[in-house]
Amino acid sequence: MDDVHALARSTSRRLVVLYGSETGNSQDVAERVVREAKARHYAPVFMPMESYDVRTLPSERYVVFVTSTTGQGDEPKNMKSFWRFLLRRGLSTSALTNVSYSVFGLGDSGYQKYNIVAKKLFRRLEGLGAHAVHELGLGDDQHPLGYEAALNPWLSGLWKAMRQICPLPVQLNDPSDEELANAPLPAARFQIDVTDSAGVEAETSREHFERLLEAHRALRIAVAAADACDASVMFSKSEYEARDCREKTYYDGSVRENRCLTSKDAVKDVHHLEFESADGSTLAYEPGDVLGVVPFAIGADDERVAQLIERLGMSSDAWVRYLIAGGVDIDSASPRRYFFEAMSHFAEEKHEKERLQYFASAEGAVDLYKYNQRERRTVCEIFDDFSSLKPTLEWLLQVCPHLHERYYSISSSPAADTAQTGAIHITVASVKWTTPMKRERTGLCSSWLTSIDTGTKIAFSICKGSISLSPPEVPLILVGPGTGIAPFRSFVRSRMLETAGSSTAGDILVIFGCRDDQRDYLYKEEWEKLEDSGSLVGSNGLGGIVVAFSRAPGQTKKYVQDRIKDEAKRVWTLLESGAKVFVAGSAEKMPTAVRMAIQDVVKTHGSLDDEESARYVNKLDMSGRYFVDAW
Ligand SMILES: Cc1cc2nc3c(=O)[nH]c(=O)nc-3n(C[C@H](O)[C@H](O)[C@H](O)COP(=O)(O)OP(=O)(O)OC[C@H]3O[C@@H](n4cnc5c(N)ncnc54)[C@H](O)[C@@H]3O)c2cc1C
Ligand SMILES: Cc1cc2nc3c(=O)[nH]c(=O)nc-3n(C[C@H](O)[C@H](O)[C@H](O)COP(=O)(O)O)c2cc1C
Repeated sequence: MDDVHALARSTSRRLVVLYGSETGNSQDVAERVVREAKARHYAPVFMPMESYDVRTLPSERYVVFVTSTTGQGDEPKNMKSFWRFLLRRGLSTSALTNVSYSVFGLGDSGYQKYNIVAKKLFRRLEGLGAHAVHELGLGDDQHPLGYEAALNPWLSGLWKAMRQICPLPVQLNDPSDEELANAPLPAARFQIDVTDSAGVEAETSREHFERLLEAHRALRIAVAAADACDASVMFSKSEYEARDCREKTYYDGSVRENRCLTSKDAVKDVHHLEFESADGSTLAYEPGDVLGVVPFAIGADDERVAQLIERLGMSSDAWVRYLIAGGVDIDSASPRRYFFEAMSHFAEEKHEKERLQYFASAEGAVDLYKYNQRERRTVCEIFDDFSSLKPTLEWLLQVCPHLHERYYSISSSPAADTAQTGAIHITVASVKWTTPMKRERTGLCSSWLTSIDTGTKIAFSICKGSISLSPPEVPLILVGPGTGIAPFRSFVRSRMLETAGSSTAGDILVIFGCRDDQRDYLYKEEWEKLEDSGSLVGSNGLGGIVVAFSRAPGQTKKYVQDRIKDEAKRVWTLLESGAKVFVAGSAEKMPTAVRMAIQDVVKTHGSLDDEESARYVNKLDMSGRYFVDAW
């Protein structure tokens, strides 16, 4: 028996699974590849691309890559260094001839550069001499079943193709579908030991907040340690924390102001929030930077937390309550497919077990989508529907959606606002929608932030944004519909301070978009004041604010792209005098529509044809004069 196990772990079946992920989906897919690989007697090694020593890639035999595309066709942060290495000119076209690889990409076909990172990675590996085991897989958020629709057939194709090049020794067999479905649950990824639960109970709101934060960090560290273990690398808590702090600065703070910017009958509530640090420490950032918030929307004393703990068969000790409230999202996000697979092992009623197994199977994917993702079913609701479900705390923490940070563009100026008042501003639109079964749903963080009381304790981080303010003499074209205006409020307020009284200041043309003048014209008074005082006008005499109203009574619908065309001459003159273009806001159709509008302006006023005008805009991109910060 031992021989068979040793055989099963044979290094000749080492399979390296590398992922690049911005929000966790690709990591989730990579974890699934690892689970399925283990069941098929491979010896998987799993990690983000940045943690892998890329110099050893030529000596690997089998590598599976899973990567998303983020930003406007960009690589996720945790694959950037790996990708840079692969792009080195000096690499030979036979550098990876030993490697058999496959790539699964996650993307959204609503974006112009659909799955571009996976496509480029696939081609580059081929160009370096590696052999594709299987065709490129492309998961699409736009598909009704999400990326799973392409993943399921891609995975079964992958395992078939892999078996051709990596046959099993005669003593081992591939598991049948039935064996796979009935495979025992592996050990949980981490274990929880209670060393000392005395003093966990919080008395004050500050202590309560600190416990949530502690629990949140503890779970993140446990996950990072489990990831390191899967990757067969050493894990050091202090190194992990030091790296985290290099990327962002963490603050303990509180809410100083929460003001609604929209009218009661607006379609979306948008709020202006101001935070300050609890200990008065300086909030250091640059215009264009981003603030991260962990949404502690559910308290440890919440009834839903207590009910869940009861289902785990545990006593409602403070440490369990904080671990659940601070670590996982039980009342907003929908869990992933693996939640149903893992939970099927904990259902005591046969029919519930079978239903969960069905949801986790390939045949159940459509029904799972309809029940879970499309309805944004929460963990609490699933526990209500499956009353015999009694998992362990370890498994609940492993497969529940984890509470994660949301990012907001900072809308204040470091010098003009924060240095004066100690506060940092963000502009938050409350996310709300109705599911096909007419259930009202809200975004976790935005609905929490927009309803939060002043004085509430809040943990936030500040990290580098993807855009930054140019020197004062550079003209700016800032296109920001809706909350896309947030980073540009920071730009403009910073510029106003820098250039007060200067005759060489560059013009600032702000192009904002909303539904109408009365309901959702964000920071209307501020913009009107700047327009009236001529403060946005610079050396070309062309600065100002232009607003696109898409639902103004009695007026034609206008979006920012339409207003760019209306102001074509102004836009063209600014471009020709060296203006930089910044676009921020919804990542869906807006950035492409704006780009097309700018191209149109260039074509008309520059007397260029389609190809030449596209080249002109591409050149703006390449020369660092065209930026998109979309979400
Ligand atoms: C760099 C960056 C800067 C950002 N700046 C800002 C900013 O300045 N202001 C701002 O308001 N936001 C900003 N965001 C977005 C913000 O981070 C959050 O994504 C947003 O507030 C939603 O978070 P939430 O927790 O409320 O929603 P979540 O609980 O995360 O829910 C959002 C999810 O709900 C689902 N969903 C939402 N609407 C629908 C629908 N109509 N139909 C079906 N499903 C739907 C989608 O799956 C969506 O991903 C920024 C994001 C990034 C990455
Ligand atoms: C801010 C943002 C930008 C995105 N940009 C692109 C893009 O340019 N092209 C694309 O195909 N998908 C894009 N996507 C879709 C993601 O690739 C997709 O949601 C994927 O599942 C995310 O996987 P991850 O969590 O592993 O990063 C974007 C998603 C977000 C939130």
